[in-house]
Amino acid sequence: MARLHPSMVAMCIAGVVLGSLSFLQCSAQPVAFDQNYLVTGGTDNNVKKLDGGKTVQLVLNQDSASGFASKSKYLFGHISMSIKLVPDDSAGTVTAFYMSSESPNHDELDFEFLGNSSGEPYILQTNVFASGIGNREQRIYLWFDPTADFHSYSVIWNPQQIIFKVDDVPIRVFKNNQASGLPYPSTQPMRIFSSLWNGDSWATRGGLQKLNWTHAPFIATYQGFSVDACQWSDSGSLESCATSNSGWWNNAAFQTLDSDSQSKLKWVQQNYMIYDYCTDTKRFTTTPTDCTLRS
Ligand SMILES: *[C@@H]1O[C@H](CO)[C@@H](O)[C@H](O)[C@H]1NC(C)=O
Ligand SMILES: *[C@@H]1O[C@H](CO)[C@@H](O)[C@H](O)[C@H]1NC(C)=O
Repeated sequence: MARLHPSMVAMCIAGVVLGSLSFLQCSAQPVAFDQNYLVTGGTDNNVKKLDGGKTVQLVLNQDSASGFASKSKYLFGHISMSIKLVPDDSAGTVTAFYMSSESPNHDELDFEFLGNSSGEPYILQTNVFASGIGNREQRIYLWFDPTADFHSYSVIWNPQQIIFKVDDVPIRVFKNNQASGLPYPSTQPMRIFSSLWNGDSWATRGGLQKLNWTHAPFIATYQGFSVDACQWSDSGSLESCATSNSGWWNNAAFQTLDSDSQSKLKWVQQNYMIYDYCTDTKRFTTTPTDCTLRS
Protein backbone atom coordinates (compact mmCIF):
# COMPACT_ATOMS: atom_id res chain seq x y z
CA MET A 1 0.00 0.00 0.00
CA ALA A 2 1.32 3.40 -0.87
CA ARG A 3 2.11 5.75 1.93
CA LEU A 4 -0.55 8.36 2.39
CA HIS A 5 0.55 11.85 3.20
CA PRO A 6 -1.46 13.46 6.06
CA SER A 7 -2.99 15.86 3.52
CA MET A 8 -4.31 12.80 1.64
CA VAL A 9 -6.11 11.72 4.78
CA ALA A 10 -7.67 15.18 5.05
CA MET A 11 -8.64 14.97 1.37
CA CYS A 12 -10.18 11.63 1.96
CA ILE A 13 -12.36 12.96 4.77
CA ALA A 14 -13.33 15.96 2.62
CA GLY A 15 -14.34 13.51 -0.13
CA VAL A 16 -16.53 11.65 2.29
CA VAL A 17 -18.18 14.87 3.43
CA LEU A 18 -18.95 15.69 -0.19
CA GLY A 19 -20.34 12.19 -0.51
CA SER A 20 -18.84 11.79 -3.98
CA LEU A 21 -15.83 9.63 -3.20
CA SER A 22 -17.53 7.16 -0.96
CA PHE A 23 -15.24 4.25 -1.76
CA LEU A 24 -11.93 6.01 -1.81
CA GLN A 25 -9.42 4.11 0.31
CA CYS A 26 -9.31 6.17 3.48
CA SER A 27 -6.17 4.67 4.96
CA ALA A 28 -4.20 6.22 7.76
CA GLN A 29 -0.40 6.33 7.94
CA PRO A 30 1.20 2.88 7.88
CA VAL A 31 2.07 1.69 11.37
CA ALA A 32 4.06 -1.26 12.64
CA PHE A 33 2.32 -4.53 13.50
CA ASP A 34 3.13 -4.26 17.23
CA GLN A 35 1.21 -1.02 17.60
CA ASN A 36 -2.20 -2.66 17.11
CA TYR A 37 -1.65 -6.42 16.88
CA LEU A 38 -0.10 -9.34 18.72
CA VAL A 39 0.89 -12.88 17.76
CA THR A 40 -1.65 -15.49 18.84
CA GLY A 41 -0.61 -18.63 16.99
CA GLY A 42 2.71 -20.26 16.16
CA THR A 43 6.26 -19.55 17.21
CA ASP A 44 8.52 -16.69 16.08
CA ASN A 45 9.26 -18.88 13.07
CA ASN A 46 5.60 -18.77 12.09
CA VAL A 47 5.08 -15.02 12.35
CA LYS A 48 7.92 -13.08 10.75
CA LYS A 49 8.15 -9.32 11.14
CA LEU A 50 9.99 -7.56 8.33
CA ASP A 51 10.67 -3.93 7.46
CA GLY A 52 10.44 -2.79 11.10
CA GLY A 53 7.12 -4.57 11.51
CA LYS A 54 5.39 -2.82 8.60
CA THR A 55 5.29 -6.16 6.77
CA VAL A 56 4.45 -9.45 8.45
CA GLN A 57 4.51 -12.98 7.08
CA LEU A 58 2.33 -15.76 8.42
CA VAL A 59 4.00 -19.13 7.88
CA LEU A 60 2.29 -22.51 7.85
CA ASN A 61 4.65 -25.45 8.16
CA GLN A 62 4.44 -28.93 9.63
CA ASP A 63 5.30 -27.55 13.06
CA SER A 64 2.48 -25.08 13.32
CA ALA A 65 -0.25 -22.91 11.90
CA SER A 66 0.00 -19.21 12.64
CA GLY A 67 -2.10 -16.23 13.53
CA PHE A 68 -2.43 -12.77 15.01
CA ALA A 69 -5.12 -10.63 16.62
CA SER A 70 -5.74 -6.99 17.38
CA LYS A 71 -4.98 -5.87 20.92
CA SER A 72 -8.19 -3.83 21.07
CA LYS A 73 -11.82 -4.50 20.31
CA TYR A 74 -13.81 -2.25 18.02
CA LEU A 75 -17.45 -1.39 17.46
CA PHE A 76 -18.04 -0.06 13.92
CA GLY A 77 -15.34 1.23 11.62
CA HIS A 78 -13.35 0.60 8.46
CA ILE A 79 -11.29 -2.50 9.09
CA SER A 80 -8.84 -3.31 6.36
CA MET A 81 -5.76 -5.38 5.65
CA SER A 82 -3.45 -5.54 2.69
CA ILE A 83 -2.66 -9.19 1.91
CA LYS A 84 -0.58 -11.08 -0.62
CA LEU A 85 -1.78 -14.67 -0.49
CA VAL A 86 0.22 -17.93 -0.46
CA PRO A 87 1.67 -18.29 -3.97
CA ASP A 88 2.06 -21.36 -6.22
CA ASP A 89 0.68 -24.56 -4.71
CA SER A 90 -1.60 -23.35 -1.90
CA ALA A 91 -4.07 -26.25 -2.14
CA GLY A 92 -5.54 -27.14 1.25
CA THR A 93 -4.48 -23.90 2.92
CA VAL A 94 -6.95 -21.42 4.36
CA THR A 95 -5.96 -17.81 5.00
CA ALA A 96 -8.57 -16.16 7.20
CA PHE A 97 -9.03 -12.46 7.89
CA TYR A 98 -11.96 -11.87 10.19
CA MET A 99 -13.49 -10.09 13.14
CA SER A 100 -15.15 -11.83 16.04
CA SER A 101 -16.70 -10.81 19.33
CA GLU A 102 -15.64 -14.18 20.84
CA SER A 103 -18.64 -14.07 23.12
CA PRO A 104 -21.62 -16.38 23.66
CA ASN A 105 -23.99 -15.70 20.71
CA HIS A 106 -21.06 -14.14 18.98
CA ASP A 107 -20.91 -11.82 15.99
CA GLU A 108 -18.34 -12.51 13.30
CA LEU A 109 -17.39 -11.14 9.86
CA ASP A 110 -15.23 -13.44 7.72
CA PHE A 111 -12.99 -13.37 4.70
CA GLU A 112 -11.62 -16.87 4.04
CA PHE A 113 -9.24 -17.45 1.16
CA LEU A 114 -9.25 -21.05 0.01
CA GLY A 115 -6.00 -22.00 -1.69
CA ASN A 116 -5.56 -24.07 -4.84
CA SER A 117 -2.95 -25.87 -6.87
CA SER A 118 -0.60 -23.73 -8.98
CA GLY A 119 -2.45 -21.77 -11.62
CA GLU A 120 -5.94 -22.66 -10.34
CA PRO A 121 -8.11 -19.96 -8.83
CA TYR A 122 -8.47 -19.17 -5.17
CA ILE A 123 -11.98 -18.92 -3.77
CA LEU A 124 -12.88 -16.04 -1.46
CA GLN A 125 -15.59 -17.10 0.96
CA THR A 126 -17.34 -14.53 3.14
CA ASN A 127 -19.71 -15.13 6.02
CA VAL A 128 -21.63 -13.12 8.60
CA PHE A 129 -22.52 -14.37 12.08
CA ALA A 130 -25.07 -12.37 14.04
CA SER A 131 -26.03 -13.45 17.56
CA GLY A 132 -24.26 -16.78 17.10
CA ILE A 133 -25.95 -17.69 13.81
CA GLY A 134 -23.86 -17.94 10.65
CA ASN A 135 -24.74 -20.13 7.64
CA ARG A 136 -24.52 -17.12 5.33
CA GLU A 137 -21.65 -18.19 3.08
CA GLN A 138 -21.00 -16.55 -0.24
CA ARG A 139 -18.14 -17.54 -2.55
CA ILE A 140 -16.49 -15.64 -5.34
CA TYR A 141 -13.51 -15.94 -7.65
CA LEU A 142 -11.29 -12.87 -7.79
CA TRP A 143 -10.66 -10.84 -10.97
CA PHE A 144 -6.89 -10.82 -10.37
CA ASP A 145 -4.19 -13.15 -9.09
CA PRO A 146 -4.24 -12.51 -5.31
CA THR A 147 -0.76 -14.01 -4.92
CA ALA A 148 0.98 -11.59 -7.30
CA ASP A 149 0.43 -8.37 -5.37
CA PHE A 150 -1.00 -6.88 -2.22
CA HIS A 151 -4.72 -6.16 -2.37
CA SER A 152 -6.85 -4.59 0.28
CA TYR A 153 -9.66 -6.59 1.90
CA SER A 154 -11.90 -4.54 4.12
CA VAL A 155 -15.25 -4.00 5.73
CA ILE A 156 -17.09 -0.79 6.37
CA TRP A 157 -19.22 -1.59 9.39
CA ASN A 158 -21.75 0.91 10.73
CA PRO A 159 -25.17 0.69 12.41
CA GLN A 160 -26.94 0.54 9.02
CA GLN A 161 -24.90 -1.97 7.00
CA ILE A 162 -21.74 -4.00 6.59
CA ILE A 163 -19.96 -3.64 3.26
CA PHE A 164 -17.29 -6.21 2.36
CA LYS A 165 -14.81 -4.80 -0.12
CA VAL A 166 -11.93 -6.03 -2.26
CA ASP A 167 -9.84 -2.97 -3.11
CA ASP A 168 -12.46 -0.36 -4.05
CA VAL A 169 -15.06 -2.92 -5.14
CA PRO A 170 -17.92 -3.89 -2.82
CA ILE A 171 -18.45 -7.66 -3.02
CA ARG A 172 -21.16 -8.05 -0.41
CA VAL A 173 -23.57 -5.99 1.68
CA PHE A 174 -25.28 -7.13 4.86
CA LYS A 175 -28.06 -4.79 5.92
CA ASN A 176 -29.36 -4.10 9.38
CA ASN A 177 -32.81 -5.69 9.40
CA GLN A 178 -33.38 -5.46 13.13
CA ALA A 179 -36.64 -3.65 12.35
CA SER A 180 -37.79 -6.95 10.82
CA GLY A 181 -36.65 -8.87 13.88
CA LEU A 182 -33.33 -10.15 12.50
CA PRO A 183 -30.12 -9.98 14.52
CA TYR A 184 -27.39 -7.56 13.39
CA PRO A 185 -23.88 -7.05 14.78
CA SER A 186 -24.39 -3.76 16.64
CA THR A 187 -23.72 -4.25 20.32
CA GLN A 188 -20.74 -6.60 20.64
CA PRO A 189 -17.27 -5.17 20.05
CA MET A 190 -15.05 -7.34 17.88
CA ARG A 191 -11.36 -8.09 17.72
CA ILE A 192 -9.59 -8.38 14.35
CA PHE A 193 -7.90 -11.70 13.55
CA SER A 194 -5.91 -13.39 10.85
CA SER A 195 -4.65 -16.93 10.59
CA LEU A 196 -3.13 -19.38 8.13
CA TRP A 197 -3.91 -23.04 8.65
CA ASN A 198 -4.44 -26.47 7.12
CA GLY A 199 -8.06 -26.73 6.00
CA ASP A 200 -7.59 -29.54 3.53
CA SER A 201 -10.55 -31.52 4.84
CA TRP A 202 -12.84 -29.03 3.05
CA ALA A 203 -11.08 -26.07 1.43
CA THR A 204 -9.92 -27.09 -2.03
CA ARG A 205 -12.35 -28.73 -4.44
CA GLY A 206 -14.49 -29.56 -1.43
CA GLY A 207 -11.64 -31.39 0.35
CA LEU A 208 -10.68 -33.66 -2.58
CA GLN A 209 -7.34 -31.95 -2.94
CA LYS A 210 -4.99 -32.24 0.02
CA LEU A 211 -2.20 -30.02 1.20
CA ASN A 212 1.21 -31.14 -0.09
CA TRP A 213 3.79 -30.61 2.68
CA THR A 214 6.60 -30.97 0.14
CA HIS A 215 5.67 -27.41 -0.87
CA ALA A 216 5.85 -25.98 2.68
CA PRO A 217 6.44 -23.45 4.08
CA PHE A 218 3.24 -21.73 2.95
CA ILE A 219 3.52 -17.98 3.40
CA ALA A 220 0.95 -15.17 3.33
CA THR A 221 2.23 -11.59 3.58
CA TYR A 222 0.50 -8.67 5.30
CA GLN A 223 0.77 -4.89 5.37
CA GLY A 224 -1.42 -2.08 6.63
CA PHE A 225 -1.70 -2.46 10.39
CA SER A 226 -3.42 0.82 11.10
CA VAL A 227 -7.00 0.48 12.34
CA ASP A 228 -9.58 3.11 11.44
CA ALA A 229 -12.39 2.07 13.75
CA CYS A 230 -14.12 3.00 16.99
CA GLN A 231 -12.07 1.50 19.79
CA TRP A 232 -14.09 -0.08 22.55
CA SER A 233 -13.25 1.05 26.05
CA ASP A 234 -16.26 0.48 28.28
CA SER A 235 -20.03 0.22 28.14
CA GLY A 236 -20.24 3.94 27.25
CA SER A 237 -18.71 2.98 23.88
CA LEU A 238 -21.99 1.33 22.93
CA GLU A 239 -23.55 4.76 22.45
CA SER A 240 -20.53 6.82 21.45
CA CYS A 241 -19.37 4.40 18.72
CA ALA A 242 -22.78 4.56 17.03
CA THR A 243 -22.79 8.34 16.61
CA SER A 244 -21.66 10.05 13.44
CA ASN A 245 -18.84 11.94 15.13
CA SER A 246 -17.14 8.68 16.13
CA GLY A 247 -15.92 8.30 12.53
CA TRP A 248 -16.49 8.87 8.80
CA TRP A 249 -17.83 5.30 8.32
CA ASN A 250 -21.01 6.30 10.16
CA ASN A 251 -21.75 9.20 7.80
CA ALA A 252 -24.81 9.23 5.56
CA ALA A 253 -22.66 8.46 2.50
CA PHE A 254 -21.94 5.00 3.94
CA GLN A 255 -25.41 4.14 5.16
CA THR A 256 -26.54 3.07 1.69
CA LEU A 257 -24.68 2.10 -1.48
CA ASP A 258 -24.34 4.83 -4.09
CA SER A 259 -25.13 3.90 -7.69
CA ASP A 260 -21.49 3.41 -8.67
CA SER A 261 -21.00 0.95 -5.80
CA GLN A 262 -24.25 -0.80 -6.66
CA SER A 263 -23.14 -1.38 -10.21
CA LYS A 264 -19.74 -2.67 -9.06
CA LEU A 265 -21.46 -5.07 -6.67
CA LYS A 266 -23.75 -6.27 -9.46
CA TRP A 267 -20.70 -6.79 -11.70
CA VAL A 268 -19.15 -9.06 -9.05
CA GLN A 269 -22.38 -10.96 -8.47
CA GLN A 270 -22.93 -11.53 -12.18
CA ASN A 271 -19.37 -12.43 -13.15
CA TYR A 272 -17.55 -13.83 -10.15
CA MET A 273 -20.04 -15.27 -7.68
CA ILE A 274 -19.99 -19.06 -7.56
CA TYR A 275 -22.05 -19.71 -4.43
CA ASP A 276 -24.71 -17.78 -2.55
CA TYR A 277 -26.53 -19.25 0.46
CA CYS A 278 -29.59 -17.25 -0.63
CA THR A 279 -30.06 -19.44 -3.70
CA ASP A 280 -29.12 -22.78 -2.10
CA THR A 281 -32.56 -24.36 -2.04
CA LYS A 282 -31.14 -27.78 -1.14
CA ARG A 283 -29.75 -26.41 2.06
CA PHE A 284 -32.58 -24.03 2.92
CA THR A 285 -36.05 -25.23 2.03
CA THR A 286 -37.39 -21.79 2.88
CA THR A 287 -35.32 -18.83 1.75
CA PRO A 288 -33.56 -17.18 4.72
CA THR A 289 -35.37 -13.96 5.69
CA ASP A 290 -32.31 -11.74 5.25
CA CYS A 291 -32.27 -12.93 1.62
CA THR A 292 -35.92 -12.09 0.95
CA LEU A 293 -35.35 -8.63 2.44
CA ARG A 294 -32.44 -7.94 0.06
CA SER A 295 -33.54 -5.46 -2.54
C1 LIG B 1 -9.56 -24.81 -7.56
O1 LIG B 1 -9.51 -25.09 -8.93
C2 LIG B 1 -10.59 -25.89 -9.38
C3 LIG B 1 -10.32 -26.21 -10.85
O2 LIG B 1 -10.15 -25.03 -11.61
C4 LIG B 1 -11.89 -25.12 -9.17
O3 LIG B 1 -12.99 -25.94 -9.54
C5 LIG B 1 -12.02 -24.72 -7.72
O4 LIG B 1 -13.16 -23.90 -7.55
C6 LIG B 1 -10.79 -23.94 -7.31
N1 LIG B 1 -10.82 -23.42 -5.95
C7 LIG B 1 -10.94 -24.17 -4.82
C8 LIG B 1 -10.72 -23.45 -3.56
O5 LIG B 1 -11.22 -25.35 -4.82
C1 LIG C 1 3.81 -33.16 -3.76
O1 LIG C 1 4.77 -32.36 -4.41
C2 LIG C 1 5.90 -33.10 -4.90
C3 LIG C 1 6.94 -32.10 -5.41
O2 LIG C 1 6.38 -31.18 -6.33
C4 LIG C 1 5.42 -34.06 -5.98
O3 LIG C 1 6.50 -34.82 -6.48
C5 LIG C 1 4.36 -34.99 -5.39
O4 LIG C 1 3.81 -35.80 -6.39
C6 LIG C 1 3.25 -34.19 -4.74
N1 LIG C 1 2.35 -35.08 -4.00
C7 LIG C 1 1.06 -35.21 -4.32
C8 LIG C 1 0.29 -36.16 -3.47
O5 LIG C 1 0.56 -34.58 -5.24
